[in-house]
Amino acid sequence: MKNDILQALQIVSPIQLEEQMLVRPAHAKLGDFALPCFQFAKVLRKSPVAIAEEIAASVKHPLIQKAEAVNGYVNLFLNREVIATALLQTVLQKSATYGSSNEGNSGVVTIDLSSPNIAKPFSMGHLRSTVIGNSIALLLEKNGYQPVKINYIGDWGTQFGKLLTAYRKWGNEEDVRQAPIETLLKLYIRFHEEAESVPSLNDEGRAAFKALEDGDTDALALWEWFKTESLKEFQRIYDLLGVTFDSYNGEAYYNDKMEPVVQQLEDKGLLVESDGAMVVQLEEDMPPCLIKKSDGATLYATRDLAAATDRKNNYDFVKSIYVVGNEQSLHFTQIKKVLGKMGHEWENDITHVPFGLILQGGKKMSTRKGKIVLLEKVLKEAIGLAQKNIEEKNPALANQSDVAEAVGVGAILFSDLKQHRKHDIEFNLETMLQVEGETGPYAQYANARAHSILRKAGEANTFDVVEVNDYEWETIKLLEQFPLAVKRAANDLDPSIIAKYAVDLAQAFNSFYGNVPVLSDEANLPYRASLVRCVTIVLTESMRLLGMKAPEEM
Ligand code: ARG
Repeated sequence: MKNDILQALQIVSPIQLEEQMLVRPAHAKLGDFALPCFQFAKVLRKSPVAIAEEIAASVKHPLIQKAEAVNGYVNLFLNREVIATALLQTVLQKSATYGSSNEGNSGVVTIDLSSPNIAKPFSMGHLRSTVIGNSIALLLEKNGYQPVKINYIGDWGTQFGKLLTAYRKWGNEEDVRQAPIETLLKLYIRFHEEAESVPSLNDEGRAAFKALEDGDTDALALWEWFKTESLKEFQRIYDLLGVTFDSYNGEAYYNDKMEPVVQQLEDKGLLVESDGAMVVQLEEDMPPCLIKKSDGATLYATRDLAAATDRKNNYDFVKSIYVVGNEQSLHFTQIKKVLGKMGHEWENDITHVPFGLILQGGKKMSTRKGKIVLLEKVLKEAIGLAQKNIEEKNPALANQSDVAEAVGVGAILFSDLKQHRKHDIEFNLETMLQVEGETGPYAQYANARAHSILRKAGEANTFDVVEVNDYEWETIKLLEQFPLAVKRAANDLDPSIIAKYAVDLAQAFNSFYGNVPVLSDEANLPYRASLVRCVTIVLTESMRLLGMKAPEEM
């Protein structure tokens, strides 16, 4: 729409126009678009007032109903009825595919997301990675890419040697079965405590990891079991969140795939010795990338180099994304630099998508001793609160537990996604679940209300738009902007654009519904019901793109 208007203006403009010159006025009474003419005064040697008057007098386009020159601005009023008719028809016809595009040309984008560490609690950081990564995958898919979601499980590293040692000394099978992560975490903590007074424990831990790396059957069996039990716990969280993965190839998967990478680094003369370790030197201001420790053990970076190469070979991605916290920015910069030095041009297609912390009372929610926030508990609590709300406000509702789950989980997802991912966010269940304000339940509730109107209105097959009032117009303009919001969110890898959009649309719809008699005005019913239908289509799709469910009743 904006482009059409811009072109119409260009025909009569004495100067080359650019998209950002056409603005949206703050007040609807100033029109739908405005072209400030002050920027042209100097070149044209005319007053802005005169320029605006000339343009306003001559601009013509079927979408423009009226052009007014006011104090050096050209204020443009669009032909609401024509636009509304075309837009509603488009949305109704395209339904859930409204806003989809083929921009990505089926290119594969690998997305490294979630990636928790086994035998450790699923942290708030992993929650953010899961939720943000999942929404990015949905957004890319809507734009015609093929997302591949990879859960790069943290299942390898020296800590597993310590864990094996601790389990053999103090652990028992029954406890691990009962509460795997809690038990294993306790063992791990105990190892560190005891190692302070008995340093030889550390050597035992190292030896145990060495045995694991060398394929010792006993060590492998235990490690395998820890992994299975941990994954079972993670799976319960993924089920609640409704997130699935295309691959669970984690760090251990690369255990026997690092040698070629190390060899290549060596062949290219990139590997140098530093304090007994093997490293790749990077730019002056950047610490070197550690490839092998003095005892020959490989590192996190080594595995990521092997994984990146493997992903390129396997998927031939056009983009490779890593949704991992801010604190690992240096690691990913190093990885990219090393891949670049190895001669891989696709280094440029790798993007680290960082995000901030989740805070509680201004402090980082910690998984350290005594302060473990168990995510599953948090999710269950949110669902419980949502259930209580339903029992109070809508006790007759069918499928209560499904709705409570959609609302509780939706609240958590939405509060995470509504702010730009780089910001730290404050965790507060009560605020998240409020039906007023910028929350998931607010958007879900607006959608459910729209559905309830439709149940009463019945289905309209045809409609005529006689006149579009200001409330309807606000809603229609927002509907028109949805494809643009989807495109921007995908290009910027920024789900918050969609979350904000959903709140804006819900707000516009609520004020439309609060001020316009939808059901009692027979003559306008087919048109207004169609508008309401379009709102449900776009709100539902927005929420789907955030990974949320949109119940029709709540
Ligand atoms: N397991 C790591 C952690 O919890 C995150 C892994 C991120 N992905 C990667 N390819 N390094 O910190």
